[in-house]
Amino acid sequence: MKSDFGVNLRHIAIIMDGNGRWARKRGLPRIKGHSAAEKSIHDAVEVCGELGVEYLTLYAFSTENWSRPKAEVSFIMKLLSRFIKGNIDELDRKNVKLRTTGRLGDIPDGPRQDLELAMERTSGNTGLNLILALSYGGRAELRDAFVKIADNIAASSDITEEMISAAMYNSDVPDPDVIIRTSGEQRLSNFLLWQSAYSELVFTPILWPDFHAEQLRNALEEYRTRKRRFGGLE
Ligand code: IPE
Ligand code: IPE
Ligand code: MG
Repeated sequence: MKSDFGVNLRHIAIIMDGNGRWARKRGLPRIKGHSAAEKSIHDAVEVCGELGVEYLTLYAFSTENWSRPKAEVSFIMKLLSRFIKGNIDELDRKNVKLRTTGRLGDIPDGPRQDLELAMERTSGNTGLNLILALSYGGRAELRDAFVKIADNIAASSDITEEMISAAMYNSDVPDPDVIIRTSGEQRLSNFLLWQSAYSELVFTPILWPDFHAEQLRNALEEYRTRKRRFGGLE
């Protein structure tokens, strides 16, 4: 199914970076930057809805982010609960299906239960799949996939790329067409390592709390100009 964007755009993935710097620029504690991120998430969902995009994956918390100070981690986990509770009615009304990717078992009980309830409530929705990457690491995902595969094969020569794709956390989700990273950093930071093989990468210096509908549309316009070849000829 083609989105209303004109070029193939089924799956947008975003590395939502720069919250801490956004706060520091304003002389605020880092956590204020995380709080300010909500509006940008809201806008991303809105734009995806307008364009008929099927999947939006948001990198919210990496396996490495557990190494941050305890107070920041626990603030982010509380914010997760607040985000779910504060937005679930609207997401449901918009026919959004909430999903996650990552090691959900690492998430503290409170926010995990809020997430599970929200996912259950929206499981029958048929609009945008909003996938929150939480305690997500591309290497952790690959490792978990290899364990699954090792348990199911007779000989290592049986392993195929299709098997690896099928063993990923959300194997039904197509690879991202575009991965956008805010805040000026130009790296993947362990995001979707397997799935990003042919994703277009768009980097913008804008900090995530300043990345609203207009900025997302501009990033997607940049994606539109790209020639995707997948190793073949035009
Ligand atoms: C992204 O913003 C949010 C998370 C990684 C949880 P940061 O917190 O990384 O903000 P910067 O990169 O320090 O500015
Ligand atoms: C990547 O941002 C992870 C998320 C946005 C959730 P980081 O701020 O953790 O990445 P690095 O440390 O700059 O690579
Ligand atoms: Mg960062």
